[in-house]
Amino acid sequence: MLERTFSIIKPDAVGRNLIGDIYHRFENAGLSIIAARMLHLTREQAEGFYAEHKGKPFFDPLIKFMTSGPIMVQVLEGEDAIRRHREVIGATDPKKAQAGTIRADYAASVQQNAVHGSDSVTSAEREIAYFFSDEDICIRTR
Ligand code: PPS
Repeated sequence: MLERTFSIIKPDAVGRNLIGDIYHRFENAGLSIIAARMLHLTREQAEGFYAEHKGKPFFDPLIKFMTSGPIMVQVLEGEDAIRRHREVIGATDPKKAQAGTIRADYAASVQQNAVHGSDSVTSAEREIAYFFSDEDICIRTR
């Protein structure tokens, strides 16, 4: 069954010209990009997106980092998309990420870790709706 997930290419990876490489990895993993946009988050947008982490010691550095430069946001569709996407991304801490994953190859730290991926159906739905309306999402005919 087709599933949708939400993905961010973070400022560190956009700044290093890795968008094409990362999209290639998503597509090779059977994930289709069905909506995408580049934007520079405001503080308010970043705080709203990461609201569940408010109060944690890393909240302020996380917001500062995520507003430090442009990001790419995208909706990916495929079989088992949430799990597949997280598999391609690798563990949050690059030291723990499996070889060949995006974070093992490109992340510098738990903060500068190149990509964000939804961790459940509930968060995917919330995160997609945070950045995209129904009209932004393109239905693939093949
Ligand atoms: S938690 O508390 O287990 O849910 O947190 P975790 O999943 O490890 O991380 C949630 C997001 O916060 C980012 N993060 C950090 N940013 C800045 N500094 C520090 N120290 C830090 N630790 C974690 C981490 O990259 C996660 O971002 P997303 O976008 O969700 O991948």
